[in-house]
Amino acid sequence: MLYDDMSKLMLLLCFALLHTAVITAKTHDKTNGPNCQNFSQGVTFNESEAIGTWHLLHFITEKEKGSGDPHCVEFIPVDEQERNKLQDRIGKYVENLNWDTISLKMEIPCKSLNSNKTRDYYLERLENNGSYRTLQMPPASAKLDLAEFHRYPMRLKIIEGQYLGMIDCHEKFVFLLGKQPPEGKKLDEKVKKMIETYWPEE
Ligand SMILES: *[C@@H]1O[C@H](CO)[C@@H](O)[C@H](O)[C@H]1NC(C)=O
Ligand SMILES: *[C@@H]1O[C@H](CO)[C@@H](O)[C@H](O)[C@H]1NC(C)=O
Ligand SMILES: *[C@@H]1O[C@H](CO)[C@@H](O)[C@H](O)[C@H]1NC(C)=O
Ligand SMILES: *[C@@H]1O[C@H](CO)[C@@H](O)[C@H](O)[C@H]1NC(C)=O
Repeated sequence: MLYDDMSKLMLLLCFALLHTAVITAKTHDKTNGPNCQNFSQGVTFNESEAIGTWHLLHFITEKEKGSGDPHCVEFIPVDEQERNKLQDRIGKYVENLNWDTISLKMEIPCKSLNSNKTRDYYLERLENNGSYRTLQMPPASAKLDLAEFHRYPMRLKIIEGQYLGMIDCHEKFVFLLGKQPPEGKKLDEKVKKMIETYWPEE
């Protein structure tokens, strides 16, 4: 299916920065892990808890294999003014989007990394259970009438009151994020348990 191939491609483009961190870390059997249904089962997601900078925790397992680049994501609230500006700019190129539900923006990586390659995604809220669909902004230099605005479903939830879980619904790839970057090789027992839950050993 074209759609299927496209969404695979999108996925690769979309979370590329985070993905490079984890894909090399572990090839896991995704059929045992959570999917978008059971990931957000019974979840009520309060967006304001997601605002701010989050660091990839799972990455710690890769660190043990020698690579220690930090990876982070920043969630920024989107107000009405920004929403309107966005709609004015790209509204005619994007179909089936309820602009009123765009309330979060996700930047990868976070500003503190001073990367010159940031990816910006507006998040369209589908439900209050943490269901979102991304709207990836094309590069500023892209010609808008040709640009593609990659959109695909993802889910967010707060785990154990202090971690942020993010799942990509297509690849069922789970990212575990914390407020602090992972430190050295010390794996918090809680984090270890979470990793076992979300990244079951095959
Ligand atoms: C979610 O559902 C999948 C597929 O049915 C299953 O393999 C997995 O164990 C479930 N995960 C959780 C956390 O319930
Ligand atoms: C969360 O909301 C989405 C979007 O409406 C819905 O498809 C999904 O079934 C809901 N998930 C749960 C576990 O309630
Ligand atoms: C959402 O979280 C914020 C910040 O933690 C809190 O102030 C607010 O009361 C919460 N809202 C709801 C509806 O729980
Ligand atoms: C971005 O940063 C990298 C690494 O610091 C550098 O090699 C590259 O030239 C920079 N690219 C631009 C467009 O500034």
